[in-house]
Amino acid sequence: MACPAGRLTDFTELMTETENMANPAINIEVPHSKFTVENLNLYYGEKQALHNISMAIPEKQVTALIGPSGCGKSTLLRTLNRMNDLIPGVRVEGRVALDGQDIYHDTDVQQLRMKVGMVFQKPNPFPMSIYENITYGLRAQGIKDRRYLDEMVEKALEGAALWNEVKDRLHDSAMGLSGGQQQRLCIARTIAMEPDVILMDEPTSALDPIATARVEDLMDRLSHDFTIVIVTHSMNQARRISRNTAFFLMGELIEFDDTDRLFMTPSDKRTHDYITGRFG
Ligand SMILES: Nc1ncnc2c1ncn2[C@@H]1O[C@H](COP(=O)(O)OP(=O)(O)OP(=O)(O)O)[C@@H](O)[C@H]1O
Ligand SMILES: [Mg+2]
Repeated sequence: MACPAGRLTDFTELMTETENMANPAINIEVPHSKFTVENLNLYYGEKQALHNISMAIPEKQVTALIGPSGCGKSTLLRTLNRMNDLIPGVRVEGRVALDGQDIYHDTDVQQLRMKVGMVFQKPNPFPMSIYENITYGLRAQGIKDRRYLDEMVEKALEGAALWNEVKDRLHDSAMGLSGGQQQRLCIARTIAMEPDVILMDEPTSALDPIATARVEDLMDRLSHDFTIVIVTHSMNQARRISRNTAFFLMGELIEFDDTDRLFMTPSDKRTHDYITGRFG
């Protein structure tokens, strides 16, 4: 398999490091791979948008996807919970596994989307109360117990660092919240479903710097419990919040590595040119 440059695309090295974990003398902490993407190709009709992508996304860390507009970041993100299935004419080849299980062949899509939640660029609260936004998915699963729902609302809003701001107005419309609060509500709504993974597609691009900082702090805290994959146009944001960064160009994964290493000592000239602002 031809792997692009970068430590995290190299399964052999990951496996070797995993073996090292069993040896207490070599203290390298290597996380479990939450997703394993192998030789992934994606086509919108005739047009190929992803070319032979292979990468292992570590569990309980923030992984950032960066690259110029149209390079396939959102497309790749959507393959991780099969959101592309909703687009007519999409064809996917290769393998995407979540915890070792092929999500295109061995997994029920509804269950997959419960495990892999998604937060979008524009906050999209439902036009209903804050409380109902959080409980909507739980009720759809048939959960009616009021005490349980109350607890989940508090837990999810606490988890999204929004509880203190909204605890006295839970039954007010979510549409009355500020943009930053709405985005944290959308994160709370996702957390309430108790997913393993949260996918975020440019979640702060519609927010001001203060709201962005709050959401970034939140992501850092959430990464202790959840695997987070975030698409961002901001290289500074990728550097601030992610442990690993993948750089894409025209549907190809050019480099995937530890974030500090990718930004400080990129191994591919195209990565270097992009992060130093020579194009994109
Ligand atoms: N629904 C679609 N139908 C057809 N082509 C699409 C569709 N969505 C994306 N594409 C094409 O696939 C390629 C990758 O698009 P994608 O949206 O994944 O890029 P991106 O890196 O997220 O860009 P941006 O940074 O602008 O959001 C582009 O050439 C785009 O035109
Ligand atoms: Mg996009």
